Amino acid sequence: MNKDEQLRNKAYDEIEKQKKLVDQDPYRLHYHIMPPVGLLNDPNGFIQWNGTYHLYYQWMPFKTGHGAKFWGHYSSTDLVNWKHEEIALTPSEWYEKNGCYSGSAIEHDGEMYVYYTGNVKDENGDRKTYQCLAVSSDGLQFEKKGPVVELPSQYTAHFRDPKVWKQDGQYFMVVGAQTTELKGAVALLRSNNLVDWTHIGILTGGGTGKLADFGYMFECPDLFYLSGLDALIFSPQGLEADGMKYQNVYQAGYVVGTFDVKAGTYEHGEFVELDRGFDFYAPQTTEDESGRRLLFAWMSVPDQDEQDHPTIEHQWLHNMTIPRELQLVEGKIFQLPVQEMENLRVGAAIEHEVEMENESVQLKGVSGKAVELILEDIAVSDGCFDLSIGGAARIAYSKEQKIFTLERQSYVDGVVEKRQCQLDTLSSLHLFIDTSSLEIFINGGEETFTARFYPAPDNETIRFQASKKSNFKIKKWELAK
Ligand code: FRU
Repeated sequence: MNKDEQLRNKAYDEIEKQKKLVDQDPYRLHYHIMPPVGLLNDPNGFIQWNGTYHLYYQWMPFKTGHGAKFWGHYSSTDLVNWKHEEIALTPSEWYEKNGCYSGSAIEHDGEMYVYYTGNVKDENGDRKTYQCLAVSSDGLQFEKKGPVVELPSQYTAHFRDPKVWKQDGQYFMVVGAQTTELKGAVALLRSNNLVDWTHIGILTGGGTGKLADFGYMFECPDLFYLSGLDALIFSPQGLEADGMKYQNVYQAGYVVGTFDVKAGTYEHGEFVELDRGFDFYAPQTTEDESGRRLLFAWMSVPDQDEQDHPTIEHQWLHNMTIPRELQLVEGKIFQLPVQEMENLRVGAAIEHEVEMENESVQLKGVSGKAVELILEDIAVSDGCFDLSIGGAARIAYSKEQKIFTLERQSYVDGVVEKRQCQLDTLSSLHLFIDTSSLEIFINGGEETFTARFYPAPDNETIRFQASKKSNFKIKKWELAK
C-alpha cells in the first residue's frame, strides 16, 4: 500500500471508529457543513463544475487540532444538500508532508485544476512552502503534478493559499504572504498555461500603499470582479483591536478597487471587515454558472480558544457558514443567504405581527433548534430592542446609540462577551439558528454577525424584549437536516 492509500484508510477507519460518539453530540449541526470527525477549517477549491458544486475543505481527521491537513470534499447540486465524497488530497508526498494546505479550483479543457500549498516542516520546525497543482477529470480523484511555484525571494515561507482565476486570456494567482520585513502582503503571479508561473510582484500590503503596515501576514486572498469593481478578500493577522473593529484574534475582510490586468497593479480603498461576529475566517468565493458570486467561510478563527469548544468531547470541531451570495451596494459588500436555503424550509411559516413596549415575550411557535427567522418592518421607537436565543446568545439594537450588539455566553468560562457595530437603523433581521451556530444578516446583508454559541441542549427558547414601543413582522420556519 502506498502512503496515500495508507492515509486514506486511516482516515476512513477514524470516521467509522468515532461515528457513534460524533453523532451523539447534541451540538452537532443540522444543515451546516461539518467534518465527519476531527477538525475542519478553511473552505478550499469552491467551484460549480458541470452543474455540481464542489466544496473541498481543510481537514484533520485524526484529532480536533491542526496538523498535516487533508482536503476533504463535499458535493451538491443545490447548495443545501451536501454529500460527503471520497478524500480529495492526502499529505502523502515530500512536498506536502505537513499538510495539503488551502487553495482553489479552476476548470480547464474539461478538467479541474486545483492549486494548493504543500506545507513542509523539517525537524527544527523550519518551514518550506510549495504551491502545487493537482488535476482531476471528475473532481473526485486527483493526479498530483507537484510544485509549480517556488518561493520568490522577497517573502518568508509564510506564503500560501493560492487562488487562481482567468482574465483576458491569461491566468492569475494571488497568494497570501509575509515579506522578509515581516509585513502582510498579497503576491500576484501570472501564467499563460496554468503550469509555468511568473511572479509579478506585491499586489497590496508589504510595506507600501494603503495596507503598507497592516499586520504581519495575509492569509487566503481572493480577488474577483463584482458589479464593476474588483474586490480583494483576505484574512490579515496582527491587527490591533480598534474600538468595535478587529475584536477577534485575526480578521477577515476586503478592499474594493480596480485591478489593472496589463500592469498587474491594484488601486483600492480601505479595509472593511466582512463579518462582525466572533467566528468567521478564511472565506473563499466562486462565481457559479448563473453568474452569482458565492462565499463560504470557516466558522471559527485560528488560535481563538479552539480547544475549548464543547464538541471536542465528541471528536469533532468547527463548521462552514451557510453559502452566501455577495452583492456590491454603493461600494460595500453585502452578504445574503443564498436563495436555495429556502429549500430547507419544512412546512408553512409561523407568522406574527408584533407590537410591544416595556415587556419581554415569547411568540407562539417561535422557538427551536434549527430554524430560520425573518423580522421585517422593524421599527424601534426608542430605547433597546433585543432577542435572546436559547439563553446563551442575545442580539440587541440600541436606537439611542445606533449600535448593534451580539452577546454570547463564552464557551470558555461562561462570562458574557460581545461584538458590536455601528448601525444607523435596524429595518430587517434574517437569522439562521442551527443548534450551536448563529448567523445574522442585518438590513438585507449590510452587516452580518456569525458565531458559535452553546445553549443548554434542551433550551430552544427565543425571547423578545423592548424597552420602548417596537413593532415588527416575523416569519419562522423549521429547517430540515
Ligand atoms: C487559514 C490557514 C491557511 C492555511 C490553512 C492550514 O486558516 O492557516 O493559511 O493554508 O489554514 O490549514
